[in-house]
Amino acid sequence: MSLYSRIIGTGSYLPPRKLSNADLVAELAATGLETSDDWIVERTGIRARHFVADGVFSSDLAFEAAKNALQAANRKAQDVDLIIVATSTPDMVFPSTACILQNKLGANGGIAFDMQAVCTGFVYALSVADSMIKTGAAKCALVVGSEVFSRILDFKDRTTCVLFGDGAGAVVLEASDTPGILASDLHADGKHVGILCVPGHVSGGAVTGDPVLKMDGQAVFKLAVGVLEDAARAALIKAGKTEKDIDWMIPHQANIRIMQSTAKKLKLPTFTGGAPAGSDWYAGGRLAGTARNDTASRMQRTCDATTDSTSISVTH
Ligand SMILES: CC(C)(COP(=O)(O)OP(=O)(O)OC[C@H]1O[C@@H](n2cnc3c(N)ncnc32)[C@H](O)[C@@H]1OP(=O)(O)O)[C@@H](O)C(=O)NCCC(=O)NCCS
Repeated sequence: MSLYSRIIGTGSYLPPRKLSNADLVAELAATGLETSDDWIVERTGIRARHFVADGVFSSDLAFEAAKNALQAANRKAQDVDLIIVATSTPDMVFPSTACILQNKLGANGGIAFDMQAVCTGFVYALSVADSMIKTGAAKCALVVGSEVFSRILDFKDRTTCVLFGDGAGAVVLEASDTPGILASDLHADGKHVGILCVPGHVSGGAVTGDPVLKMDGQAVFKLAVGVLEDAARAALIKAGKTEKDIDWMIPHQANIRIMQSTAKKLKLPTFTGGAPAGSDWYAGGRLAGTARNDTASRMQRTCDATTDSTSISVTH
């Protein structure tokens, strides 16, 4: 049995339809909603997002990201014996998006299931895959974060609809005798259910409730800046490292101010997170593994440098 799991390839995919802030501002203005490029950039650092076309689902984005990750890892889909898809916007109620992806990849027969942990989903999925590889339950895992958040946005609510987009990121994880993922730190706090939620469900053949994203932005902001630092420090301690060992931080965060604040608290000399101001990749938060292609291609360096899970596992 191997002691570690190791990321051997990363891949990402963004749907072709890209909306700059100016594009979104114009679209929203046509419906009577007022916002501006200046406001979005100043408050969040976001300059653009990608939205899927009608008829495109999470499994479609996951499929493209997975293919890219497998290619980068020089592995075939048939080598994969575990698929975990982290998503809050699955194709169907069931079967899992992971099962649908497995079939699209032609990797049928292994373990496949979804992880529903919203913003932390990718980190949870990575940690579960890591554990399953360490126990010998799997040898080669595909971990994918995939979202079509545009389907659950309320385009009448300017405080939320400017923040999210669609996309997918994937990593191939393999059993290894050398690190590897060193440590993870996972948490949840159910008392905050109301500050970020999609309060709808399927019942009696209809969607009931209010199935669009609701957020208390300031409450989420306040919580995030505290827990990101706490989780990062806890993961560092578990890994026997300090903040000085961090080369890269790849957060699952939309807001540049939260990332900068975390970087400052961790005394990172310059902010080199996965989504620098002006990036265009954010897709709901599960995509720490995606970052941008340039970041993703450098992620292995971070893994080699031992602190991959410190940032990857920064979660709450
Ligand atoms: C959402 C967020 C950017 C809002 O920033 P903020 O500084 O807290 O802004 P506020 O909510 O206090 O709103 C300030 C003003 O801007 C206005 N405003 C809100 N959204 C706006 C928009 N898109 N365009 C223009 N004005 C907007 C508000 O109405 C408010 O106006 P008022 O002062 O006249 O009442 C910020 O709270 C945030 O990033 N929260 C965390 C989000 C997050 O991380 N979510 C989870 C992702 S994983």
